Amino acid sequence: MNDIFEAHDWDAAGRIGRLSVPRAGVTVETPTIMPVVNPHIQTIPPRELAERFGAQILITNSYILHGSDDLREDALEKGLHDLLDFPGAIMTDSGSFQLSEYGEIDVTSAEILDFQREIGSDIATPVDIPTAPDTEREAVEIELGTTQERLDAAAEFSSGKMLVSAPVQGSTYTDLRESAGEHAAETGLDVFPVGAVVPLMNDYRYGEMIDVVMAAKRGLGPAAPVHLFGAGHPMMFALAVAAGCDLFDSAAYAIYARDGRYLTVRGTEHLEELEYFPCSCPVCAEHTPAGVEASDERERLLSEHNLYVTFAEIRRIKAAIREGNLLELVETRARGHPAMLDGYRALLAHSEQLERTDPASKSTFFYLSGESARRPEVLRHHRRLERLSVPDSLLLADGSVDGIEADEVWTVRPPFGPVPPELSETYPVNAELPDRLDGEAYALAARGVARLAEANPDCEVTLVAGWPEVALAALPEHTNCILIS
Ligand code: GUN
Ligand code: ZN
Repeated sequence: MNDIFEAHDWDAAGRIGRLSVPRAGVTVETPTIMPVVNPHIQTIPPRELAERFGAQILITNSYILHGSDDLREDALEKGLHDLLDFPGAIMTDSGSFQLSEYGEIDVTSAEILDFQREIGSDIATPVDIPTAPDTEREAVEIELGTTQERLDAAAEFSSGKMLVSAPVQGSTYTDLRESAGEHAAETGLDVFPVGAVVPLMNDYRYGEMIDVVMAAKRGLGPAAPVHLFGAGHPMMFALAVAAGCDLFDSAAYAIYARDGRYLTVRGTEHLEELEYFPCSCPVCAEHTPAGVEASDERERLLSEHNLYVTFAEIRRIKAAIREGNLLELVETRARGHPAMLDGYRALLAHSEQLERTDPASKSTFFYLSGESARRPEVLRHHRRLERLSVPDSLLLADGSVDGIEADEVWTVRPPFGPVPPELSETYPVNAELPDRLDGEAYALAARGVARLAEANPDCEVTLVAGWPEVALAALPEHTNCILIS
């Protein structure tokens, strides 16, 4: 891998980055979405995607162009940029998806890579094998071996200005995804799609999708630009960005529009069931659902709305990364659908991994639900507690206390636990919390007390707090506890 990608603002594993695409002579700001352009059907012309919606990069399928008697010669003669009339960068896919849908395709990886180079693709893709979820392990290993041979062979195509992507496969086996990520990073290829996640998303298996992405990321390392192949629903962008995905591709905006589906950041609505438009994009501001339903332009109008919400969510995510409240946004999105909540919970189970790139200071931590207690900042505070020096006796109190002698008094704050005076005004312990806390907040605070006490067995720790008794089960024996009600 070279230095085509540079990240300059982080939040959890999410980042704002700059992807240089030398053959197109442009730099793409990530995270972003590449609209999928079907060379045969263009509901919204590519130039409009750039000029009206701000698309800096799109993706199209070289296998469809290669197989089309109408378009193949045109693409070879004019080049992709002229053929599609698009001023930004163009990524091309290889036909792997057709391979997974129909079982075979009629080109080799080298042939289709050569074709992608000939038509002027800026980011080409070899023919990887998208192994389905839950495939038997032995079969996954064999297909992964084939994918990896093709990635190795694709390296010669990335020697010029054209970038080449290195898809990471491995089905639902996280150890295979991790080693596939490692191998992909070693090929020297440029952009790293996590493949074969479409079936997981179609089945609302967002928790497993996150496990697969986090595993691929462990193998790839934080410097690699990561594309989530086939992910185009705006409700999951914030979650996937927080897991470290930089590029998305959306066919959903167009495909959904064809059968009357209206995208929102909370899920999908059916146009005929909508009484009001919950959106202020130009389409929704100027029309009613019934008006769009009756229009000859229904598909076009719906596609436009779908793209407006898609790009708006990308901008919202970038703003959240800059402000340092991406996890608050993910948490909000997680309330839109139980499967998204599953995805967020799966993400938080990887808090150790998220913590490595999460900034030490951000805008105020908002505690919004029990999930907030599992955020990487809480984990980091707990680790820090183990390194703090403590006196012989320490009183931890969530208010003022009379009649207990101790060398020092520290406050305690759910979900963080003990907070020494010198940290009390700093991120993240200066968090905003609701007055009515949940069990998770107390449970994690008690875990913080336990970690401090366990790291300092000779310190006499007394906790005085108005916490529920169940939260205290984790405390070690030598901790004195005085519960106040
Ligand atoms: N489009 C959606 N998923 C995939 C994948 O795994 N590989 C390729 N090449 N294209 C895809
Ligand atoms: Zn709208």
